[in-house]
Amino acid sequence: MVNHIKIKNICCIGAGYVGGPTMAVIADHCPHINIVVIDHNKKRINAWNDENLDKLPIFEPGLKEIISRVRNRNLFFTSNTGDHIKNSDMIFISVNTPIKTKGLGAGQASNLYWVESCAREIALKGKGFTIVVEKSTLPVRTAETIKHILDNSTNSNINQVEKSFSVLSNPEFLSEGNAINDLENPDRILIGGEDNSSIKALEEIYLNWVPKSKIIHTNLWSSELSKLTANAFLAQRISSINSISALCETTGANVMEVSHAVGLDKRIGSEFLNPGPGFGGSCFKKDILNLVYICRFLGLDEVADYWESVVLINSWQQKRIYSKIVSKLYGNILNKQLTILGFTFKSNTNDTRESPAIQISYDLISEGAQLVITDPKVNPQQVRFELNRINNIQENPIEEIDKKWKFERDTYKSVKDSDAIIFLTDWEEYRHLNWEEISTLMRLPSWVFDTRNVTNKNKLAQLNLNYWKLGDC
Ligand code: UDX
Ligand code: ADP
Repeated sequence: MVNHIKIKNICCIGAGYVGGPTMAVIADHCPHINIVVIDHNKKRINAWNDENLDKLPIFEPGLKEIISRVRNRNLFFTSNTGDHIKNSDMIFISVNTPIKTKGLGAGQASNLYWVESCAREIALKGKGFTIVVEKSTLPVRTAETIKHILDNSTNSNINQVEKSFSVLSNPEFLSEGNAINDLENPDRILIGGEDNSSIKALEEIYLNWVPKSKIIHTNLWSSELSKLTANAFLAQRISSINSISALCETTGANVMEVSHAVGLDKRIGSEFLNPGPGFGGSCFKKDILNLVYICRFLGLDEVADYWESVVLINSWQQKRIYSKIVSKLYGNILNKQLTILGFTFKSNTNDTRESPAIQISYDLISEGAQLVITDPKVNPQQVRFELNRINNIQENPIEEIDKKWKFERDTYKSVKDSDAIIFLTDWEEYRHLNWEEISTLMRLPSWVFDTRNVTNKNKLAQLNLNYWKLGDC
């Protein structure tokens, strides 16, 4: 078999939140490697190639500085597959793997359509020996599917060009909003696989900036399962503290104080103990549901129930916040104007996938409220897309939903004449608002609902604003 493999050409399929930043950082540290990122979404590729770096398709602190150094030096974005797959020594698969909406496993299993298409394309166009790296979060044993497609295509192709493949799992652990830092200073790099030369080739890339002690090796399945488990553990902490937030509200405790006290225990640690409207993002829910699906499939119902409860608490938290808003507003929100502050699933990203703001906004609209939605990074088309998607499940006419909300970029304009403002994302700027001004803009009696601990209770009380803070009695 191949002994020492020197990687000169990389191709990454998928220019999304994972593929884009990951390849940018590799290109920055490895000027000797040529990297091409391919995406069939032309609009996205055009945005990656836009002269104006403020138009990159992804907002990620530190990203545009790196892109300005490496783009068209050794990092290229294209929607044309051309010969890139054929010419690459290593191919990263970074495509989307959303939850299936139809058919077997709908609502739980990942839709592997895009991963499978990539494998087929690589099988068809690959030449010589190619290392295929799974980067997207995938259900356990997906590498097997990829391998099967790759290996079987090499036997049946009549115009066979000599080709062989090795599959590695190298999950991403980057957290949006902090992705560049996570890529620059990872806690660990996990490489799962069987072929030592391929593992070494991938390791050599990371060694350009990551200490060897941080690179760990496992078999393929451990690598895939570690990714799912890491996300399940993180999500579990959030559901745990959110469940306690409800208890605090009815007992006179304060969840921030509890979270602080609990997190000081070294065995527990203080991170990921912030209460909020529930976790969003493309990974947590999907990964846990994948875990649940595979456990049920294997007859491990108790294990499946245990992890499923993390997702159930997350949905319950969102419903709980919506109910709290309605009940505080005297049980009636019909035609009341409510402002949603923050539509992304967390601060420092423009990503709205699985954002708690979607369900909460939708429920408020369905109950008759008129919403003004504001966010520093989201655009109205994206809000419409998300509300439309959730509405499709409910099967109401979208025109009715459209009439019930408008978007306003400016925070101060967004609160004008509102009966209540509802903080759903922890954008830093929300911590520094001019409350004297806001209190004069709102309709009386005015309410503030803070689910992200971004406001100061005493300050708001001085201004006679009615106040509800998550996890505070
Ligand atoms: C996550 C993992 O952190 C990352 O390692 C993995 O590779 C991808 O999934 P991401 O989804 O980008 O990253 O964001 P993360 O920071 O984990 O936050 C997820 C959600 O949890 C957000 O909605 C956030 O607001 C919420 N959260 C996080 C809390 O509610 N409380 C916390 O204490 C931390
Ligand atoms: P992630 O957060 O995992 O990066 P995204 O949805 O942001 O997910 O990005 C995945 C990208 O992969 C999308 O831009 C999509 O157009 C692209 N993609 C999916 N399948 C293919 C394919 N077969 N060829 C090229 N690009 C693909």
